[in-house]
Amino acid sequence: MAITTGIKGFNDILPNQVEKWQLIEATARRVFGIYGFSEIRVPIMEKTELFARSIGDATDIVEKEMYSFTDKGENLVTLRPEGTAGVMRAFIEHKLQVLDPVTKLYYLGPMFRYERPQKGRSRQFHQIGAEVVGVTNPRVDAQLLVMLCHFFTDLGLTEPTLQINSLGCPDCRPAYRASLKGFLLERLERLCDDCRRRMETNPLRALDCKVAGCGETTADAPSVLDHLCQGCDDHFVAVRRHLEATATPFTINSRMVRGLDYYTRTTFELVTGLLGAQSAVAAGGRYDGLIQELGGPALPGIGFAMGVERVALLLADRETGRSPDLFIAAHGEAAGDEAFRLMIQLQRQGFWVEIDYEGKSLKSQMRRADKLKARFTLIIGEEELLTASGMLKAMATGVQVASPLDPSLLAEALSCS
Ligand code: HAM
Repeated sequence: MAITTGIKGFNDILPNQVEKWQLIEATARRVFGIYGFSEIRVPIMEKTELFARSIGDATDIVEKEMYSFTDKGENLVTLRPEGTAGVMRAFIEHKLQVLDPVTKLYYLGPMFRYERPQKGRSRQFHQIGAEVVGVTNPRVDAQLLVMLCHFFTDLGLTEPTLQINSLGCPDCRPAYRASLKGFLLERLERLCDDCRRRMETNPLRALDCKVAGCGETTADAPSVLDHLCQGCDDHFVAVRRHLEATATPFTINSRMVRGLDYYTRTTFELVTGLLGAQSAVAAGGRYDGLIQELGGPALPGIGFAMGVERVALLLADRETGRSPDLFIAAHGEAAGDEAFRLMIQLQRQGFWVEIDYEGKSLKSQMRRADKLKARFTLIIGEEELLTASGMLKAMATGVQVASPLDPSLLAEALSCS
């Protein structure tokens, strides 16, 4: 049987799309570098227990979306559904706090979740994420958000927009949870099966349930922001103050609960209306208890991850394709040899040059030069060989000049414009 298709939800990134990805990655590396972040590369597979402990047993990700299996050594392993857990595992394992008490890391790569594929949602998707470990000060929350907005502005995107919330801490969240649960229990019959089922394990999820009836039922549910303890409230006020002081636009969304359990205090999403149901382009928050929960030191952390597929969709119409500096169209065997020699010499000098390999007609070679959007074309026929001079044409203006078949002089001409 022929194998001509890949696995559902696992997509190829083709040459005509990959330039957008490279632009996104290069922008992230550059902008994150300005803010002092270093790259970390961790494996795409970890012990299943790591994700169950960090993301939470009662989350959709752990309950139904993980690619988990037993390997040949009987170990239960999982393809990472997100980056934070693995990066924190590596942080603890290598005691990175010893190098610098403020650890700023970023990562990029594929993540895996068994979700229903649709526009902006796939089973293998890609995240670019950043994490800061070691700082409780709300200035770091604001700085991370400023950096994220800097990244989108640098890409020339006005979407997405920033929404923030606070989910409190282990001191104040239980009371909020109890109050929300009481509210939901009184309206149980109006909630969907999923929300009812999660009543004991994760009642907060009802607030961002997509089922219309749940949305209506929870419209006047108690707000987490009315239940924050003094410490969490002060923190949230300070984050907002720092965002205002740095002219970073945001709105407060007290119904944002996030799909991972490790969050404390500040949470945020960058949302867009341009991608249909998949509105979150980037998201994250504080996770002050996670490192200790995994067995590491009691250090606070905060971070985010963006979905690269979604950022690429926002860049949909952006012209990012590259085109050759020069196409050398040659007529005849001897001219073909000369074109080949010039091509190699110019490539060694750093120019992208294309030639024809199949003995096509000059007309057809020129069509290909057009299609590739070559900046210049050089035509070499038998006559040109005799005079050692070809016709160099700037494709944008149509201006043609006779040019010696000399790689240094050609290189000069290609560099001029
Ligand atoms: P998350 O909200 O699960 O957070 O994912 C972050 C982003 O990844 C989403 O906003 C979305 O853009 C993208 N994403 C998630 N699932 C898919 C999918 N199936 N297909 C395409 N894109 C997707 C986290 O993963 C946290 N680790 C973020 C974080 C870092 N929090 C603190 N540090």
